[in-house]
Amino acid sequence: MIPALTSRGQERTAPSNNEMLACLYLIASAVLAAYALLWVRSRRARALLANLPSNPQLPFIGNMLQFCGGGKFIFRQIDQMSVISDEKMQPFVFWIGQYPVLLCHDPDDVRTIANNLIEKPYYYNFGKIWLGDGLVTAPVWKQNVKKLASVFSTSVVEGYQSVFNAQAQSLVDSLKSKEGSQPFDVMHYLARTTLEAICHAALGVARISDSVETEEYYQAFNRCLEMFISRGLNLLMHFDFVYNRTPAHKELARNVRVLHRVSDMVSINIQFRSVLDILLDISESDPLFTEQQIKSEVDTIILGGQETVATTIFFTLLMLGCRPKVQNKLYEE
Ligand code: HEM
Repeated sequence: MIPALTSRGQERTAPSNNEMLACLYLIASAVLAAYALLWVRSRRARALLANLPSNPQLPFIGNMLQFCGGGKFIFRQIDQMSVISDEKMQPFVFWIGQYPVLLCHDPDDVRTIANNLIEKPYYYNFGKIWLGDGLVTAPVWKQNVKKLASVFSTSVVEGYQSVFNAQAQSLVDSLKSKEGSQPFDVMHYLARTTLEAICHAALGVARISDSVETEEYYQAFNRCLEMFISRGLNLLMHFDFVYNRTPAHKELARNVRVLHRVSDMVSINIQFRSVLDILLDISESDPLFTEQQIKSEVDTIILGGQETVATTIFFTLLMLGCRPKVQNKLYEE
């Protein structure tokens, strides 16, 4: 043994070969035990999904290495998997550690999955920094769904029809002004229109783009989604105590602050009953429906109703542009 001095000047001894072997043995046993535990925990899911198309996996991390790269790389990987799913007419499965992720094309598959897997996956928690315990990220979402049903009733939605019509007209005017000009990114206009519409309906704020830089909002939004997906695909980053110490966490917090600036805007307009007004009424009779909860629901509705609608209109326009006959038919109608 080789004597050595510790920082306090006491003598310590280097570990013997036997001690090192024992240490290695302990580490190997711990790794094996962890692997066995993970394997047992995911055994049922593996058996259920065994016949679906998939890529070969590594122990512990599954298919994680296939997603090491930036947002565009991840998009391409997922695109390739979607092509296989399309060809085989089956969902494609990939594994992030012990967690399976299914890529589905067929609406019937989506329905089967949604009806059978009621609980949201735990990595939805990563979105709490933005959406708190709103409907999408809450663990108790079933209770809140009942409470919030009135927000999505036909009469409430019909009450916003004039807001949607005004925004649709303004979008048409903007697009008309581009007629015959150079190619342009239509998403820019769609994103602004849907943000205006949802902020008017949800918060009662009529012209959000007067107070918020919509381009900055949209960039922050896209970046946040990209960062949540990247985190979900990297097992190491699943641990809060690791992730919260990374530059990514700081960047995410900065982007979330931009998004929260929008939901912080509230307009007092007694002529117009916004979603926020309805939520405030609910909170009067329900002490569990706190101010924080209301804020999370509003953030969730803005997320739920903005980018989704913009992307849907984007693809509708793209498809119509590719099929002039259908476009003419629609125009006639
Ligand atoms: C074409 C447009 C839309 C699409 C494609 C769409 C898609 C979706 C999807 C896939 C989910 C499930 C999310 C998940 O749990 O992972 C969802 C949930 C949700 N969406 Fe939409 N959505 C659209 C429009 C809207 C609009 C306009 C609003 C609000 C005004 C909205 C509000 C919500 C809310 C609150 C949830 C959470 C529901 C819950 O988990 O109980 N969505 N949406």
